[in-house]
Amino acid sequence: MAATVHSLLLQNPNHSSTILKNPYSNIAFPSQSVNFMTPTRSNKSLCITCTTQVQDLSTTAPASQSQDRVFNFAAGPATLPENVLKKAESELYNWRGCGMSVMEMSHRGKEFLSIIQKAEADLRALLNIPEEYAVLFLQGGATTQFAAVPLNLCKPEDPVDYLVTGSWGDKAFKEAQKFCKSNVIWSGKSDKYTKIPSFDELEQNPDAKYLHICANETIHGVEFKEYPTPKNKDRILVADMSSNFCSKPVDVSKFGIIYAGAQKNVGPSGVTVVIIRKDLIGNAQPITPVMLDYKIHAENNSLYNTPPCYGIYMCGLVFEDLLAQGGLVEIEKKNKKKAEILYQTIDESGGFYRCPVDKSVRSLMNVPFTLEKSDLEAEFIKEAAKEKMVQLKGHRSVGGMRASIYNAMPLAGVEKLVAFMKDFQARHA
Ligand SMILES: Cc1ncc(COP(=O)(O)O)c(C=O)c1O
Repeated sequence: MAATVHSLLLQNPNHSSTILKNPYSNIAFPSQSVNFMTPTRSNKSLCITCTTQVQDLSTTAPASQSQDRVFNFAAGPATLPENVLKKAESELYNWRGCGMSVMEMSHRGKEFLSIIQKAEADLRALLNIPEEYAVLFLQGGATTQFAAVPLNLCKPEDPVDYLVTGSWGDKAFKEAQKFCKSNVIWSGKSDKYTKIPSFDELEQNPDAKYLHICANETIHGVEFKEYPTPKNKDRILVADMSSNFCSKPVDVSKFGIIYAGAQKNVGPSGVTVVIIRKDLIGNAQPITPVMLDYKIHAENNSLYNTPPCYGIYMCGLVFEDLLAQGGLVEIEKKNKKKAEILYQTIDESGGFYRCPVDKSVRSLMNVPFTLEKSDLEAEFIKEAAKEKMVQLKGHRSVGGMRASIYNAMPLAGVEKLVAFMKDFQARHA
């Protein structure tokens, strides 16, 4: 680890400037100096300046998996970066010398405050999140956001548009029906959710309060490669990015709200990240439960009630790791390479393996495939598990297999899978 000197300078206008003992001395920041203005828990301005001279990325992403671990292709909760797990392990008992675990800390103490602020600052740096957007660390999973979005953005009589490209988009639409007049403007159901329409053919309602999409359908493996322009009056696009969050660069300014459950690409289950344009906050329906009101959470910097502290800490470690790997441009390159070799193996198998998804919208994250001889699928999954490749069974609603190859799945894992697939085909063709 070559990264050495980081200083954390906290300047609070109501207190004299303080240089705190550096709690991030093991972290590789990007090579440039980073300066963040983030709100403090008490809404006072807090300036965190992190500087580093050197970084050594070679220590951050192990090329292959340790002997005692499997390659876990689960759709979520999913595999986490090995170096992040090891770092968490080393800090589990006594976080950076403070004498307690992150699990034992007060969420209002200075230690946790530094953890959540650093997590937010790193996420802002990763996604280049503009100042006009609030970042919230919430609970309840993306499923809770299916209700929170209409409750916060609409009155009960307001129309909203849903573009349904898979089961998750459909669930979001159905939940919204309870709180406003939600309307499906296009559904891929009749094509078994294997397509995304051309945006020109969408009939958007100009009076809709927002247009909702699921950026990556985890079950069906369908991913938006670009995003539709919302035609509603306020131009609001809302995206469920649960399964491709932080897997590639995203222009946040194109969205009103981005939300994502953490448990696929950025951490353990229990944390839901919401990125919301600040002018959309503050109009929740009166019936909105306090826990679903973005205003309450924004005003309290995600500390209105006890947040999922340990999960937020883990997300913070993942964000650091993604920055240390060079940010989302580099991450996308890695993800493309992994997906390419897997889809290629499927497409060049002469029909032994098939992926039903339209090639132009195939997901980089979730790769569903079937076997021509479907009676071999159970054998495939059993043999793969013997080779320490687990969780390859497709979702119960679609069957077949699914390999989820999120950020933390190393290339070595996908290489091992495609070698196994070729060998399996040679033995069973
Ligand atoms: C795209 C997508 N949206 C929403 C959800 C629901 O997330 P949660 O279980 O965190 O509520 C999932 C879960 O897998 C998902 O993949």
